[in-house]
Amino acid sequence: MGVKLGVNIDHVATVREARKAQEPDPVAAAVLAELGGADGITVHLRADRRHIKDRDLRLLRQVVKTKLNLEMAATEGMIKIALEVKPDQVTLVPEKPNEITTEGGLDVENNQETVVQAVGRLKGGGITVSIFVDPDPVQVKAAKESGADAIEIHTGLYAEAQGGEREKEYRKIVEAAQLAQNLGLVVHAGHGLDYRNVGPIASIPGVKELNIGHSIVARSVLVGMERAVREMKRLLG
Ligand code: PXP
Repeated sequence: MGVKLGVNIDHVATVREARKAQEPDPVAAAVLAELGGADGITVHLRADRRHIKDRDLRLLRQVVKTKLNLEMAATEGMIKIALEVKPDQVTLVPEKPNEITTEGGLDVENNQETVVQAVGRLKGGGITVSIFVDPDPVQVKAAKESGADAIEIHTGLYAEAQGGEREKEYRKIVEAAQLAQNLGLVVHAGHGLDYRNVGPIASIPGVKELNIGHSIVARSVLVGMERAVREMKRLLG
């Protein structure tokens, strides 16, 4: 069986919020993503609620039939919401108020106490816990020590790098994936993956799940444009 695909639909909510309107609804996008074969739906509920809202998360919990993965910061407020909504999986991520997107992995090593507490409480609520980490052996080991079930290896630097640098970043991911498996962690990966760079990551032995957002939502806008215009033209008579 191939690598599982978690589709991150945050950008659908970003388009909705550009107009503070009701459409496009990320809940509808989740249903269509599942019809297309998504193995899971991922959303990031940010402290500033800039795209995904509490309402989306609650409806997604009812509608998603595959696996609902909630990306969130390890804060008290978010832990409470997660324990109430009960996504299938939480992925703990670092969060900075003004960042455009998540900028890197969580520094588990230097925040052990907070992370251990968050992992323990979420797992106690029956939620699988993954931690988004850089491909750094120190962070992979710290994630294991925190009690997490899985890690999501940050592929952002690999995705941005060119030539020899990309090869170096790739090796780091391969080694982190190997270490994580040896420690008994389930291995996921994501960030910055697109139709050109995903192949080598998908072929890393033991990588079970990829979380991909921007490139899929960007492509869906383009492949859907012709049909959307045709439908509007038809209404014009
Ligand atoms: N994984 C994590 C932990 C993320 O924070 C994000 C972005 O929200 C993704 C994967 C998806 O990244 P991209 O949108 O670049 O595919």
